Amino acid sequence: MAHHHTIPDHVSPLARLLALDALVHEKLIKQAVAVALLHTDIATVARVIDVGVGTGAGAFALAEEYSAAHVLGVDLDADMLADVRQRADHQELGDRISTALLDVEAPDFDAGVADLIWSSNVLHEVSDPAIAFRNLFRSLRPGGVLVVMEMDGSPSVLPSAFQPVERALRVAAGADGPRVDWSGPMRAAGFELLETRTAASDQLLPADGAARDYAALELQRLLDHASPALTEQIAAEVRDLVADLSGSHRRLTEVHIRGTRTVWVARRP
Ligand SMILES: C[S@@+](CC[C@H](N)C(=O)[O-])C[C@H]1O[C@@H](n2cnc3c(N)ncnc32)[C@H](O)[C@@H]1O
Repeated sequence: MAHHHTIPDHVSPLARLLALDALVHEKLIKQAVAVALLHTDIATVARVIDVGVGTGAGAFALAEEYSAAHVLGVDLDADMLADVRQRADHQELGDRISTALLDVEAPDFDAGVADLIWSSNVLHEVSDPAIAFRNLFRSLRPGGVLVVMEMDGSPSVLPSAFQPVERALRVAAGADGPRVDWSGPMRAAGFELLETRTAASDQLLPADGAARDYAALELQRLLDHASPALTEQIAAEVRDLVADLSGSHRRLTEVHIRGTRTVWVARRP
């Protein structure tokens, strides 16, 4: 059973978005974990590292499937790690999920050696991916598996009636910009690429709870990143929709959350 947790008010906007993302995209995360399972033998996976663990979406899903493994979540952000530990204790997983404050780009990165490394929506943020991939390579035993996931652009959140507005917003915010391709950097670090897959999410949901909050945060994030090319008319319309999603008198009764993510699976020979 999924262990949904309520999101406390005091968390940072990123932690809040990640926690909402985990709730809204639970199935997508499960799809990616299923890809990891295809390439690993559960019996030989004793140690998993989640690099850039954030609020733990990957770490908790991995701990559930790899039920005999220890999962180490590493991140640069001590508050995220504290949140992960607190949630692990709360779910009586404190002995199976631990955390370490580490930078995957540091030349002396040392998270020990794992059978499986997972990193979701993190590596596009690092300034020198070549160093990060070399560090990940060193942190896997020979035969160990690396699973990396990235979003293909930002998710869309509005129903079809609002597509012209959403399209204009997405263009102005570069939401569909070129996505990263980690195949080359993975091979350059010594990995054997096993497969690349697309995980997809397409959900028409009542504009309520986590889905509503997620849609409002995503629209606001795009608005914050929009170039001056966005007309004042569209910007005002988007601000209205954000207010509408946050208020009690609704024009929007549904949100349509859809997007794809790429999953790369590689092996240390
Ligand atoms: C967009 S969040 C993704 C979190 C989580 N993996 C998920 O899918 O929900 C990116 C996370 O990577 C962490 N991060 C960014 N650069 C990092 C680095 N160089 N080393 C370790 N963690 C890093 C951030 O602090 C943040 O928690």
